[in-house]
Amino acid sequence: MSYHDTPPTGGPARRRRRSKAVRRITGGLALLFALTALGLAYLTFAPKAQTATAADVDAAQVAAGKQVYDNTCITCHGANLQGVVGRGPSLVGVGEAAVYFQVSSGRMPADANGAQIQPKEPLIKPEDIDSLGAYIQDNGGGPVIPDGNLRNDAEISRGGELYRLNCASCHNFTGQGGALSQGKYAPAMTEATDRQIYGAMLSGPQNMPKFGDGQLTSNEKQAIISFIQNNKATIDPGGYSAGGFGPAPEGLIAFLVGMGAIVAATLWMGSRA
Ligand code: HEC
Ligand code: HEC
Repeated sequence: MSYHDTPPTGGPARRRRRSKAVRRITGGLALLFALTALGLAYLTFAPKAQTATAADVDAAQVAAGKQVYDNTCITCHGANLQGVVGRGPSLVGVGEAAVYFQVSSGRMPADANGAQIQPKEPLIKPEDIDSLGAYIQDNGGGPVIPDGNLRNDAEISRGGELYRLNCASCHNFTGQGGALSQGKYAPAMTEATDRQIYGAMLSGPQNMPKFGDGQLTSNEKQAIISFIQNNKATIDPGGYSAGGFGPAPEGLIAFLVGMGAIVAATLWMGSRA
């Protein structure tokens, strides 16, 4: 008996069930295929579209930055950022971090060439600072300040240790700043924002050392920022500070002023009697 002669093991009902199952499986496969195709189509088209727009934004920002640069910086830093002898250093490779630090603190554009260019009310609008940063970053790269939160409050005491090791020698233990040689000074940190502190560490203005990620990791820089900003909040007692030297001299001043007032009042009353 050949197997062709084997009577079907199932009847028509079983065949119907099987064909239903087959239909269900093919349907499922078709859906899976459609979804995969859709997913692939998304993968191939969507991100491309996204990067294209990001690149467009970047190109526009770089062009806008060049415009601001040509108007306000070119006389001292040169047409190709190569610097101008006797006026300003090359900006090739200084990166967005240096630009942000210098321009947002109002040091740049510099107006006069003193021993140390002073911070002042910033002249350049925030969006133009970003564009300048993009333009200078686009011409030679360099350090960039990360986006987002720049603090590490969980490691604030580690931040204090790192501050005492790396910064206090110039900026003083309380961040009040201090004199350096040749009429230069390390400024107080009372005004600096998180981004400016990060930018100062990455770019090392004047004779401040550069603290790249090899010297201090991003986490360590953030811990230092947390320490500085927290210190500022707790040290500043409010009211008039007598140079931030603590409660003793400030109390002495209050005592002297108060005594002076009492003496003056006594004299005045004596003269009326
Ligand atoms: C009057 C001249 C002058 C003008 C205008 C000027 N700069 Fe400068 N710039 C200097 C000098 C001088 C220094 C060096 C300062 C120092 O060492 O503290 C400097 C330093 C810098 C640095 C730091 C470089 C580094 O190695 O960290 C940056 C960034 C910078 N300038 C950007 C700009 C930008 C952006 C503009 C325009 C918005 C500008 N400067 C306009 C003179 C100028
Ligand atoms: C060798 C001395 C020196 C050391 C060490 C040093 N700095 Fe500075 N720092 C300076 C000088 C000088 C300036 C002023 C630069 C200028 O005016 O262009 C400065 C400027 C700054 C500013 C700008 C303040 C402002 O708003 O004007 C910040 C913030 C800063 N330093 C943070 C730090 C931190 C954080 C450390 C440690 C990780 C550090 N510095 C270590 C010398 C130093």
